Amino acid sequence: MRQEDRKETEIQIEYIKKAAALLSEKETEAGRKLRACVVTFGCQMNARDSEKLIGILEQVGYEITEDENADFVLYNTCTVRENANLKVYGRLGVLNGYKKKNPGMKIALCGCMMQEPQVVEKLRTSYRFVDLIFGTHNLYKFPELLVSVLSQEGTIIDIWDKTDRIVEDLPVKRKYSYKSGLNIMFGCDNFCTYCIVPYVRGRERSREPEDILAEAKSLAQDGCKELMLLGQNVNSYGKNLENAPSFAQLLEMVCNVEGIERVRFMTSHPKDLSDELIQVMKRNPKICRHLHLPLQSGSTEILRRMNRRYTKEQYLELALKIRREIPDLSITTDIIVGFPGETESDIEDTLDVIRQVRFDNAFTFIYSKRSGTPAASYEDQVSEEFISAQFDRVLKLVQETAREQAGKYEGLTMDALIEEVNESDPTLVTGRLSNNCLVHLPGDASLIGSIIPVFLRECKGFYYLGERK
Ligand code: SAH
Ligand code: SF4
Ligand code: F3S
Repeated sequence: MRQEDRKETEIQIEYIKKAAALLSEKETEAGRKLRACVVTFGCQMNARDSEKLIGILEQVGYEITEDENADFVLYNTCTVRENANLKVYGRLGVLNGYKKKNPGMKIALCGCMMQEPQVVEKLRTSYRFVDLIFGTHNLYKFPELLVSVLSQEGTIIDIWDKTDRIVEDLPVKRKYSYKSGLNIMFGCDNFCTYCIVPYVRGRERSREPEDILAEAKSLAQDGCKELMLLGQNVNSYGKNLENAPSFAQLLEMVCNVEGIERVRFMTSHPKDLSDELIQVMKRNPKICRHLHLPLQSGSTEILRRMNRRYTKEQYLELALKIRREIPDLSITTDIIVGFPGETESDIEDTLDVIRQVRFDNAFTFIYSKRSGTPAASYEDQVSEEFISAQFDRVLKLVQETAREQAGKYEGLTMDALIEEVNESDPTLVTGRLSNNCLVHLPGDASLIGSIIPVFLRECKGFYYLGERK
């Protein structure tokens, strides 16, 4: 970590103490404990950021709750598709109702959506009850912003358009004791033409390998068995560092950390996936048998217009090579339907790739126009009727292949990391296999966090019923 970044951590820790003093005054005034709630929208990165935000709120002295009728409510937002934004506006109305009954309540917003100037403008003019707005680049300043919001009235807006800083070692409250996300890089430089992430998360910045390993060690000492290395494109890890290991080497280094039994990663861009990575995955049993390899489209022409920098044939060659090399690996993907200019013949190409690769699971999204991205100004936007018909075709095939794939392991015994007591049937626990499939088996809370062999008795479509071996 750079000297100036370390210094910033110390500064923010001082602010945590100040915020704690302010909060305790407010608690004395109110005559009760004050409660804070953080709601997370979007991806794994946001989930990890929320753990940091909750860690700070907890350290400041708030009682953490999932109830949004609280004294401090923070929405960590996503803007990857339009419906993510609409959800936030809808729920803000509900929060305003709570605030009318609890005037001391503070409402805060952060995350990707706040990096869009038109969003902040709308909030400033039409959602004036919001107390604090900050973005993705100054998340580490949260303690300082919290001090401001606790000591003054009026909306505080602090959005930066970029940062080159990586400030670490602030408090974190992990959601699960036995598994954790671990950021290896931030931002994205790929500029796929439909995607807003590079604009709201900034340029790609990798963390130093020593910092990543130190965090992995400390998580392991804290009881964590499974790590998920996080980045928008983990395969280009290290581009901005000197003498950095390749992603494949980094993966092995993390696997060697004592106490870490499983390592996953998310996400891989097909254009940068190396043979070295395939070989490392093949030989290292700690690396989970799961690869998320977003396809987006099977049509070379659409891929070109998406700026994905691979063709249908290149994707197929890569995916089929991985299937050959590691037959028990599950491959999942993301697909967008309705990109500008997409025709039925492009959809045929997508269906063809699904048939050939037989994805173990796929997230299918309807194209959402994001203002500021190149594709938003393409003139050949396609009609809603076309999209909904094609979306159904893609979804149907994806579900069929995924169901066939899931059945493959019926009758085998595999290791599962037990994650939780089953919500609908408390006599069962739910475990995750290395290939990311879920299995429900008889058991109780004492099994949570252990990795045990489970007999996969019956495949129920997308999960298994099993029993302990
Ligand atoms: N960095 C990851 C993706 C992050 S966004 C990667 O490149 O794989 C997660 C998924 O959201 C993408 O894979 C894409 O399928 C989808 N997505 C992104 N922008 C979208 C848009 N404008 N409309 C619909 N889906 C989108
Ligand atoms: Fe978006 Fe493409 Fe970057 Fe993924 S790689 S975050 S889809 S720009
Ligand atoms: Fe959404 Fe931001 Fe993640 S836009 S998908 S929360 S990086």
